[in-house]
Amino acid sequence: MKKYQLYTTMGAGFESVVAKELHSLGYETTTENGRVFFKGTQADIVKTNLWLRTADRVKILLKEFKATDFDTLYNQVYDIDWATILPIDAKFPVQGRSVRSKLHSEPGIQSIVKKAIVNKMSDQYHRRGFLPESGNFYPLDIHLYKDTARISLDTSGDSLFKRGYRIEHGGAPLKENFAASLIKLTPFDGSHPLIDPMTGSGTLAIEAALIGKNIAPGSWRKFAFDNFDWFDAKLHKDLLIEAKSKIKKLAAPIWACDIDQSILEIAKLNANNAGVLQDIYFKQVAVKDLATDLKNGVIIANPPYGKRLKDKQSAEALYTQMGSNLLKYDSFSQYYLVGDPNFESFFGKKATKKRKLFNGNLRVDFYQYWVKNDYK
Ligand SMILES: C[S@@+](CC[C@H](N)C(=O)[O-])C[C@H]1O[C@@H](n2cnc3c(N)ncnc32)[C@H](O)[C@@H]1O
Repeated sequence: MKKYQLYTTMGAGFESVVAKELHSLGYETTTENGRVFFKGTQADIVKTNLWLRTADRVKILLKEFKATDFDTLYNQVYDIDWATILPIDAKFPVQGRSVRSKLHSEPGIQSIVKKAIVNKMSDQYHRRGFLPESGNFYPLDIHLYKDTARISLDTSGDSLFKRGYRIEHGGAPLKENFAASLIKLTPFDGSHPLIDPMTGSGTLAIEAALIGKNIAPGSWRKFAFDNFDWFDAKLHKDLLIEAKSKIKKLAAPIWACDIDQSILEIAKLNANNAGVLQDIYFKQVAVKDLATDLKNGVIIANPPYGKRLKDKQSAEALYTQMGSNLLKYDSFSQYYLVGDPNFESFFGKKATKKRKLFNGNLRVDFYQYWVKNDYK
């Protein structure tokens, strides 16, 4: 069976989290900034797209080479056996990116690569003039870094954060893969309770329930590989059936609370779409009034963050309320994603560890409060 050189992309700072997930799926990996490499067959392409909770995309590395001039770029791309990858009517957009390389014009790089592929396909398919590009979608990208070019085929299509369970509501929810990555930075594995006291549209609680029930995060969507004409379509069907057979019961409660009933209704719709509505206990309550008999779990939240002064002041007052109430639950390890550098002083406790992250473009910290009985 043909083995491909594969890699995943992910948000900055999550390389080790994705590598760990790949290890637990049985792959050996090598990591560089923004990418984790591994090898696999078509079945592995399906498996990783279906199961990776924390990655952005899974790509096939088609070729890697040095290129400091356009002739080399053209020739190296032309040399690839494109007829085995792209059918004559393939729609194949090429995305170009260049960092610290002699060839730096991204539109120039894209158009040379496109030209090389079109010319090679015209030769291979004995066709003159334009290619129709009326068929299936084969997303390609060319990435130059320090004069090394990599040309890849994206097997995911839409980013893997688009699980397909979420309804749009205009708020600012965490991306699903970002939420899953935050959970993977806690000791949560479904065997102990988890509480999100400010759940919004429920992303953290839903991702936790998917982890706890061993539901594959890609269960509801299609991937780019579904449209590749050389791809074995049976694999996706088979691995989806296998994934469904691995779903288990949740072993411990998950709570999703928020002060705002209307956002909780959206969270419930999302949870229902994800098949975990019955697994999450939703409660409308202000964080200062949250009370629980649960013990030895994880509290995790993405509290509001104020950009304007007035919002900032009310957010900071809220961090103080969080500290006064939530720190009472001292058998829980606690994790807060906050953009305010003064969070600890308002919350009233210095974090065991802070992890610098980016939520989109927003620089944030993941404040971690570990407890002694932590099941890490
Ligand atoms: C940034 S959003 C959370 C987004 C969420 N992680 C998601 O993915 O949708 C913050 C949430 O905190 C809630 N909130 C604000 N003040 C609160 C309070 N005093 N008690 C409980 N929840 C509160 C808001 O209603 C909002 O839904």
